[in-house]
Amino acid sequence: MMQTPYTKNLTLEEMEANPYDVYRRLRAESPVVYIPAVNSWLVTKWDDVQKIGTSPDLFQATDEEAPVSIHFGKTAIIHTDGDLHRELRGGLAPHYAPRKVAEYIEDLVVPLAEECIAAFPEDGNVNLVDDYFEPISVQCLARTLGVNGIDTKTLQEWFHGLVMGAINYSRDPERTRICEETKKKIDKALDPIFAELEKAPNNTPLSHLMYHGMPEGERRSREFIMPTVLVMLLGGAQEPGHGAASTMAALLENPDQLDLVRSDMATNLPKAVAEGIRWVAPIGTQVRKTTQDVELNGVTIPEGQTVCAVLASANRDEDVFDDADRFDIERDAKNHAAFGFGPHFCAGKWMASPQMEIAIRVLLEKFSSITLDTEKPHDFFGWEFRAPTSLWVHAKP
Ligand code: HEM
Repeated sequence: MMQTPYTKNLTLEEMEANPYDVYRRLRAESPVVYIPAVNSWLVTKWDDVQKIGTSPDLFQATDEEAPVSIHFGKTAIIHTDGDLHRELRGGLAPHYAPRKVAEYIEDLVVPLAEECIAAFPEDGNVNLVDDYFEPISVQCLARTLGVNGIDTKTLQEWFHGLVMGAINYSRDPERTRICEETKKKIDKALDPIFAELEKAPNNTPLSHLMYHGMPEGERRSREFIMPTVLVMLLGGAQEPGHGAASTMAALLENPDQLDLVRSDMATNLPKAVAEGIRWVAPIGTQVRKTTQDVELNGVTIPEGQTVCAVLASANRDEDVFDDADRFDIERDAKNHAAFGFGPHFCAGKWMASPQMEIAIRVLLEKFSSITLDTEKPHDFFGWEFRAPTSLWVHAKP
């Protein structure tokens, strides 16, 4: 359970290239351990990860040292607790609740998917990450949040830039620079939207963040809500696209399972998507700070430490999932950890899941054959956020 030469010498590069090999070893040898390469404790067993998410008295979300607090600001929803957290969540949650989402999700995703497909090259050789899943994902987020009129490439550039701040555990100055420049661009682009909102509220989550629960005639400042807006423009924009891309990569690597999905989409596509984000969790961790010395799995973590509850590792815990490294849509993966645990459980889950399912469904309906382009193989990258960096396929109607 103590530091070992392995945990001391583990590098960020190893974690970003293949975190699952690292987590397997940590679960076996050091399931609660400080990792110098990421300036944080990593906790890798399902039970401990769940305990962290559901025990805000011991593991608070408020953490001014966490990369998201440093780069996005201290009122980012994921790093707030108690009343402040409820206030921010109350502004966002209603538009992303299941019944509300059911009213708009099909009409939102299908035209976006069809528009992307119409722009595919005639030979059907396409990168599904850049040219299909990410565009659908960023526009779904922007249009539902109330950030209208921003083109797809710009929204993609935004989350790629913001990510550099959110993963900056190593305090890399180059990553800081990229994130800060992106924030400046976002601020400028959002000026007209905020100018309108500051005059009068409208019926968007962005407006609700500003006005929800405030006395008549008062609103929250742009500075106060901006860190949470950045969380949305990163996670909300990126993750469904990346979750769908990981799922599609897994299906293409396992043609028998792709056939199963095609044979009964209504039943098997939701299973495939749940399994896809269990297999590769788009968001790797929930980051918390100890409020006191806490004993976890026989190890005492001192007060005030940054602790990463590793969702991606909980999802591969061999005590919870049989043959956990295998992508298998027939397992019951509904209770995976990819959307987190506790009061910060993903507020966008009920939009993300049908969005991923519809995006894959439209693709499979339009193309009777989709195969991996073996000349441009895909790689997965990242530990805090993880997805295929590209997914080149041959698609035929
Ligand atoms: C597959 C897609 C997604 C995955 C895997 C995912 C995962 C997560 C996880 C693990 C958390 C917890 C973070 C923490 O506690 O630090 C979270 C929080 C959150 N997610 Fe998602 N997310 C996804 C899509 C979305 C979408 C589409 C939206 C927006 C509509 C969204 C909005 C949020 C918000 C606002 C929070 C903060 C909740 C809070 O702090 O109370 N997410 N998400």
